[in-house]
Amino acid sequence: MAFDDIVRIEQLQKGPLEEGEWLANKRVFIRVDFNVPLDKKTGAITDDSRIRAALPTIRYAVEAGAKVILASHLGRPKGHDENLSLEPVGLRLAELTGWEVHLPEDCIGDAPKKVIHDLRVASAGLRGGPQICLLENLRFHQGEEKNDETFARALAELCDVYVDDAFGAMHRAHASVDALPRLVKDRGMGLLVASELAALARLVGAPARPYVAVLGGAKVSDKIAVIEALLARCTSICIGGAMANTFLAAQGLNMQRSLVEGDKLALARTLLQKADTAGVKLLLPVDVVVGTGIDVVEGQVVAVTAVPAETMALDIGPKTIAAYSAVLRGAKTVFWNGPMGLFESPAFATGTFELARAMSGIAGFTVVGGGDSAAAVNQAGGDIAAGFDHLSTGGGASLEFIEGKRMPGIEALRRGARP
Ligand code: 3PG
Repeated sequence: MAFDDIVRIEQLQKGPLEEGEWLANKRVFIRVDFNVPLDKKTGAITDDSRIRAALPTIRYAVEAGAKVILASHLGRPKGHDENLSLEPVGLRLAELTGWEVHLPEDCIGDAPKKVIHDLRVASAGLRGGPQICLLENLRFHQGEEKNDETFARALAELCDVYVDDAFGAMHRAHASVDALPRLVKDRGMGLLVASELAALARLVGAPARPYVAVLGGAKVSDKIAVIEALLARCTSICIGGAMANTFLAAQGLNMQRSLVEGDKLALARTLLQKADTAGVKLLLPVDVVVGTGIDVVEGQVVAVTAVPAETMALDIGPKTIAAYSAVLRGAKTVFWNGPMGLFESPAFATGTFELARAMSGIAGFTVVGGGDSAAAVNQAGGDIAAGFDHLSTGGGASLEFIEGKRMPGIEALRRGARP
C-alpha cells in the first residue's frame, strides 16, 4: 500500500495552498478514537492510552492557532445513551492538557456551531489558555454508522479542515471516517495515524525474518483472514488463548469444558495443513492452566492430553511459555494480537504477561496489535510496554491492515479522491 499521496498534518501546516501558519483560526475537525474502556460499575475510564496517543496531533493544531474540534465514537450505543457520553473523556482531556474542553450537547447543529464560533485559540499573549471543542458521541446519531451523506454534511458545516487521527476506526466506513473527509477539500492524516501506518507497513512490506506472530483471543473465526495473511510472511505462528482449544480439539484432544468452536474444527485442520504446505511452524500449547470456572482463584497446570473432566483451559502452561519464548528469542520481527488466557484474572494471567515480557526483551522489531493485548502490556507492569517498538491503538484496524484490506479511512484521505 502506498501512503505518499496522503497529506500529513505537518504538510497541511506548511501549505500547499499558502505559506505560513495557515491553520491559524481555521476550524480543524480532528477525528480521534476516544473509544476508551469504562469501568462497568462507576463509568470511570480504566485506560486512557487512546486519549494520550492523540495528544501530539491535538497539541500541534492548538499550537498552530487552530480552532480544534475533536470528534469520536464511544461504545456501540443504539441512539442517545447517557452512559456513553464523552463527558468523562472531556474531563480527562482537560486534566491532561490544562485546557478548557467544551462539550456541546449534540455533535451537529447550532449547539456545536456556537461553541466553535466562540472558541478562544492559542496566540501570543493569550490569557486564560486555549479552549477546544469535543463533540458528543457521534454514534448517538444513526447517520454515523450508516455513513449517511446528510449527517456527514452537517459535520462538514462545522469545519474548514479535516484531519483523521483515529487509527482504531479507520476500518469503519462510517460518516466521520468516510463520507465526511470526501466533502472537505483540505484534509490529511494526523501524527498518530502516520506513525501507526509507518509501523504496520513494516509488517506487510518485507519484514525481517525470522518473523514470529503470536495470536490469541477467543475465536479462530475472528482470525482466519489474518492467519492466512501471516502464513505468506511468517516463519512461526504461536497460538494461545481460547482459540488454541479449537485447534487442539481439531487434532482429536478432549478439551472437556473449554471454549471450543465446534463448527470450526474442519477450518482449524485446513489452517494447520496450509501452514504445513507453506513451511510455517504453527505452534500449539503443550500444557494449559485449567479451572472449574472463570472465577476460581487458583488454576491447575495439566498437559493438553490430560485436561480433567469438568475443567476448562484458561491460560497456557509453563512448558508452552518456555517453548514460545524460545521461538521468540531469535525473532527479527514480532506481531502480537490477542491474550494467551483470561489475563483479567490473576490465576490465568501468567501466560499473557510472561510472553509480553519475552517479546518486549527481544532486539527485533516488535508490534502489539491493539485491543486486549495492548491493555495486557500496559497491565503487565515494569518497563514491559517501553520494550515494544509499537503499541497500536487499533485492534480491529491493525488486523485488517495486516490482512491487506483496503481501509475506508485511508481511501477517503487520498488526494485523488478529492472532490
Ligand atoms: C475499536 O475499539 O476497535 C475502535 O474504536 C472501533 O470500535 P468499533 O469496533 O465499535 O467500531
